Amino acid sequence: MADDPDPDVSDADERTPCPLPTTPAMPGSDPVRRLVHVEVTDAARRLRPATVAITAGRPPGGPDAPLNEPVAFASAYHAGGPIGYARDGNRSWSALEAAIGALEGGSALAFASGMAAIAAVLDTLPLGARVVAPAAGYSGTRVLLRDTGPAGRWDPVFLDVTDTDAVLAAIDGAALLWLESPTNPLNGIVDLPAVIAGAHERGVLVAVDNTYATPLLQRPLDLGADIVVHSVTKLLSGHSDVVLGATVTRDESRCDALRRHRSSYGAIPGPMAAYLALRGLRSRAVRLERAQASAGVLAERLAAHDDVTRVRYPGLAGDPGAARAAAQMDGPGTMVAFEVRGGAPAAEAVAKATRVIVHATSLGGIESTMERRARWAEDAGIPASLLRLSVGCEDVEDLWADLERALRVGMAAASDGP
Ligand SMILES: Cc1ncc(COP(=O)(O)O)c(C=O)c1O
Repeated sequence: MADDPDPDVSDADERTPCPLPTTPAMPGSDPVRRLVHVEVTDAARRLRPATVAITAGRPPGGPDAPLNEPVAFASAYHAGGPIGYARDGNRSWSALEAAIGALEGGSALAFASGMAAIAAVLDTLPLGARVVAPAAGYSGTRVLLRDTGPAGRWDPVFLDVTDTDAVLAAIDGAALLWLESPTNPLNGIVDLPAVIAGAHERGVLVAVDNTYATPLLQRPLDLGADIVVHSVTKLLSGHSDVVLGATVTRDESRCDALRRHRSSYGAIPGPMAAYLALRGLRSRAVRLERAQASAGVLAERLAAHDDVTRVRYPGLAGDPGAARAAAQMDGPGTMVAFEVRGGAPAAEAVAKATRVIVHATSLGGIESTMERRARWAEDAGIPASLLRLSVGCEDVEDLWADLERALRVGMAAASDGP
């Protein structure tokens, strides 16, 4: 993240731009988007991401105007306006989309869930399209590509996306390279500039699931990606109370295709969820700052713990992804994966023994959560004792005391046997 303390934006040309907003990239293509006022001034273009997260997507100002877009509960609209019908637009979505789009530097669309956004992107591919995707990435995407879609809908190839040579060797003839970085749950870091450039040389589209990093840490469109997707459910909204997804692109026709898909399939978010997601997004930067600092402390301490056999966190000096993360991210993030002695029974006992950290799937909330990923059948290939810890904003010493105690209790319970 930019660390220049000078708050004056007038001479900040050299800083990482965070383009605001989507309107210039999408001239006239979305009348609903124009309902939400986003000021595109030179100064606004130079705002840092933490400020953009707080300011983008506000409605027009004026005496007694609400600061943020209120929840637009409506299924019918007076005729003659740009929305027309509730499946095609909603002011609460538009506000959220303006903010996510401004942060990622493209045009965002809100979907009913991260999976709805992922499915929409994959559905815009031709029948039988080859999709190269992570072998050890988010299981929902893998399951959709491999099992849920009708036979022959896609031709998926799963591989280690952190292995640049393997990716480049596999993508000839593919329609899409699907990436996650960091990967969920192994925290693998993809050399995004290298594989994106290689994919484009071969005429292959690139989509990046940016859920783990969020645009506060990584902007894949700036690194050349064609499409970004998010499970907004997670770190962007950040309070474990919303299910919502998003796509972001800079290509007008692709964005229109995704919008049509959303309308036709009805994969739309509720206005309340959109409102809550934007409210959560407003504080993403402060949540990140705190949780990331704690994640670094916990990763170091876990790495030194006798019962921990491996820690995967790109902020650790020895981590295989550390150099790439430092080159393409503004921080290593808030997700820590670690393996414990004693295999699955020990890891399961540790996960169940925490008191502050919630034993739960999902991630990215203000509250810390942890689970053994391989407890899910779809993640059977993940190391059996790997615990995925989503670090929240509690006091780091309380988190460490909880982890230390859970390791002690869990190890003892596992060695006693069932
Ligand atoms: C990296 C990643 N992408 C996508 C999804 C799917 O998002 P949702 O649960 O909002 O459908 C998840 C959910 O865990 C995820 O972790």
